[in-house]
Amino acid sequence: MQKLRIRGGKRLVGTVRASGAKNAALPIIASALLTDEEVVLSNVPDLADVRTMGRLLEGMGVRFERIDGESVRICADNVTGTEAPYELVKTMRASVLVLGPLVSRFGKARVSLPGGCSIGARPVDQHIKALKAMGACVEIDHGYMDATASRLKGARIVTDMVTVTGTENIMMAAALADGVTVIENAAREPEVVDLAECLNAMGARVHGAGTPQIVIEGVEKLHGCRHSVIADRIETGTFLCAAMVTRGDVTVTHAAPETLEAVISKLREAGAVIDIDGTSIRVRMQSRPTAVDVRTVPHPGFPTDMQAQLMALDAVSQGSGRIVETIFENRFMHVPELQRMGADIHVDGHTAVVRGVEQLEGANVMATDLRASACLVIAALAAQGETVIDRIYHLDRGYEHIEEKLSKLGADIERIA
Ligand code: EPZ
Repeated sequence: MQKLRIRGGKRLVGTVRASGAKNAALPIIASALLTDEEVVLSNVPDLADVRTMGRLLEGMGVRFERIDGESVRICADNVTGTEAPYELVKTMRASVLVLGPLVSRFGKARVSLPGGCSIGARPVDQHIKALKAMGACVEIDHGYMDATASRLKGARIVTDMVTVTGTENIMMAAALADGVTVIENAAREPEVVDLAECLNAMGARVHGAGTPQIVIEGVEKLHGCRHSVIADRIETGTFLCAAMVTRGDVTVTHAAPETLEAVISKLREAGAVIDIDGTSIRVRMQSRPTAVDVRTVPHPGFPTDMQAQLMALDAVSQGSGRIVETIFENRFMHVPELQRMGADIHVDGHTAVVRGVEQLEGANVMATDLRASACLVIAALAAQGETVIDRIYHLDRGYEHIEEKLSKLGADIERIA
């Protein structure tokens, strides 16, 4: 099992390019199931999860090929199956995103229930509720969702909570439905907006993405398109935090500053000097950061996917910060690992109180989930001495070439077997 070895204390200085967003690429790749014409996507990150989604579609007879370092070509003109098997779904819960497009275009889908993951139970009841509201019959059979529909019908859907992939599945299901679908309480994440833009480029009629109410007028058929995936705001935020804990001076290019305003505002509160110039974000940190309070909420608030990274920043800051995780029930697994590095953190339910320490110490630690592993990288970059992070397959799911990018900025980091 591969590990990352990091020797901390090196200032990060220089320029790094943001990759395309994993959480936009995954639903957009799934949306190619909605048409029998070719979809060409650029700025698609070369990540484990993207390769998994490609394998999932290939298993249904879809042509999925990477054209070059950043583009993929997809064509679902000869779909031979509508099943998402447990073996793949258990490795990537975002596989559930094929449900909406399959039922919408083919009238059937057999998708394994994703099961829980380390950060929470993560049910998909809202996805099922919405499909039923649109006229689908959905039965649970031996751990699979079996969905059938002659043709989905537009409906007004009020989700019980804001759900990102739930909103995305409903949008894709509604794209070819008969009539108009209204999603109330819709997720407003930039990745939802990017999917809507791609669907509209395919001839869909999606209005209001980015607001709590999305209206989709179903059409008869969708055509192919070319689309460039939005920059990854979570990867960008991760690099900004890494620069801050090393008191560095880093510019992230090809970013989307407008998609991480809450993060930028919080990092400025912590003392960072952040300058935005078009799609470039420059962060400078001359002195020790000041610990900040954070409460994770749906977009446009502070994103749960940046909670662990912010905790690593608070862990070495002046003062103390309260971090409240409101989205997932078990997203503090990075805490014990940070504590092994000398962090002073007290968890009470969904709240963590982090008292900043002058210096973390390198240690052997273990990644438990994608963003927890990013948190440990940030902590290791700040720590005195050597850190070895185990189980970094978690990291490879969401960060493209992270050791190359960090090495270029001056980090002492290498991948070891
Ligand atoms: C998406 O997950 C992201 N993944 C997650 O990113 C992100 O953390 C999450 O949204 C929240 O922003 C992708 O986009 C591929 P939700 P998703 O449905 O859609 C509950 C990462 O690190 N819920 O918005 O699965 C759920 O349990 C990953 O890149 C239900 O109860 O999250 C959670 O408490 C991690 N029933 C809350 O809603 C449902 O049917 C929000 O979940 C759906 C969700």
